[in-house]
Amino acid sequence: MKARWLCIPAMAACMVAGQVNAELSKDDAMALAKKSGCLACHSIDKKVVGPAWTDVAAKYKGDASMKEKLVGKIKAGGKGVWGQVPMPPYSPRVADADIEALVGFVLTMSE
Ligand code: HEC
Repeated sequence: MKARWLCIPAMAACMVAGQVNAELSKDDAMALAKKSGCLACHSIDKKVVGPAWTDVAAKYKGDASMKEKLVGKIKAGGKGVWGQVPMPPYSPRVADADIEALVGFVLTMSE
């Protein structure tokens, strides 16, 4: 009987571990950014056509709700936050999961 109760915390630990795995290493994230075409307009710490990703991360630091908004913006494109140059829409060219992973990566740049 006792063993059954032990399963529950073990399962929760597995689910948490699964989420951690969803975060990319820096090398993997940069390879994905390159493959997705992001680096044509962005670099980590210099403004190119779009803002430096360290500036993006600093701007939204501490605002957890921004992740979802940025994912939406990359999917649909948009302008007006950093200037009048628009960012092109990326969906469906880049898979949703890849866009989420890239935004997650960009937002860690301020740490
Ligand atoms: C053709 C050039 C171009 C490409 C390619 C591009 N971006 Fe951008 N990006 C921009 C511009 C310009 C802005 C600023 C938009 C604005 O002022 O609202 C921007 C803004 C952003 C922002 C901040 C958005 C905000 O509202 O603050 C993020 C995050 C971002 N880009 C990520 C990406 C990712 C990830 C990719 C690859 C999938 C990518 N960009 C590809 C030009 C580009």
